[in-house]
Amino acid sequence: MLKEVTATRYITPLREGGSLPGLVEADDFGTYVIKFRGAGQGRKTLVAEVVCGELARRLGFRTPRLVTVDLDPDLGLGEPDQQVQELLKSSGGTNLGMDFLSGALGFDPLAFPVSPEEAGRIVWFDALVNNVDRSWRNPNLLMWRGAPWLIDHGAALVFHHRWGTTDPAKAYDFRHHALGHYGPDVRAADAELRPKVTEELLRAITAEVPDAWLADEPGFGTPEEVRRAYVEFLHARVRASEAWLPTDFPSRAELAAENARRAAKTQQGRPDWLKRVPDLHGKPAAEQDWSVHLG
Ligand SMILES: Nc1ncnc2c1ncn2[C@@H]1O[C@H](COP(=O)(O)OP(=O)(O)O)[C@@H](O)[C@H]1O
Ligand SMILES: [Mg+2]
Repeated sequence: MLKEVTATRYITPLREGGSLPGLVEADDFGTYVIKFRGAGQGRKTLVAEVVCGELARRLGFRTPRLVTVDLDPDLGLGEPDQQVQELLKSSGGTNLGMDFLSGALGFDPLAFPVSPEEAGRIVWFDALVNNVDRSWRNPNLLMWRGAPWLIDHGAALVFHHRWGTTDPAKAYDFRHHALGHYGPDVRAADAELRPKVTEELLRAITAEVPDAWLADEPGFGTPEEVRRAYVEFLHARVRASEAWLPTDFPSRAELAAENARRAAKTQQGRPDWLKRVPDLHGKPAAEQDWSVHLG
């Protein structure tokens, strides 16, 4: 069971992400990033966060500790933003919390060093859980105390959106992975991590998911049946790693060329004055050519 805390103060929404997580204080004096059960993305996002977050931690990755946060929607009464008010109102009861990494920086895939071993382990993990949300443009990695931390696994486990239709051996689309150009050694990661993802381990992590988020899943009788389905799929997938092991990563130069092509396409059809404005369209700011402003 994840540790249970009760929110005592709603601090502020975190506006960087799409799902509008918030920051809360809890009765254990901790500060947590809270992901709301009532968010548009639905409770499966929270299940994916727990299954992947707990799997990552047990495999030795750095990832914030998870808790469940009991929320009284009245805590948000003072929140002026209508959208946030609605979110709080629809999220009474059990929500997901994670340790707030105070002072963490967003990961810049062009600025921070990552070894091929570490890149390989992270890419391998994302391929296993089919995480489509660790891209170059949206890395969902935080730099904290000098090392990358994994966050935001809500979009992983795509198979649970249509049970029974996804092949566990399905290849993983890694072309835009945030760490693709660090020369990820996925073979070494496979040799190290595959034997660790046992049925027993998978049973332990799915046991951490609160019943409330698994109840009434169409096609299943009990939360326990749903847990078994996660275990079966992930166990079949890890055994099929030869089929999905990503290889043939694009080089830094190839990524830069693709970026340039994209930027050129965006520039087409723009009036001259707008062509001089740096194109921030989803690209890391470090890539921008600010020289246009320097005369
Ligand atoms: N544990 C954390 N510690 C510090 N900041 C965090 C933490 N989790 C999320 N954030 C910040 O909030 C943003 C949104 O969180 P994320 O989990 O990516 O949610 P979303 O699903 O909305 O993308 C992140 O990009 C990061 O800046
Ligand atoms: Mg995110």
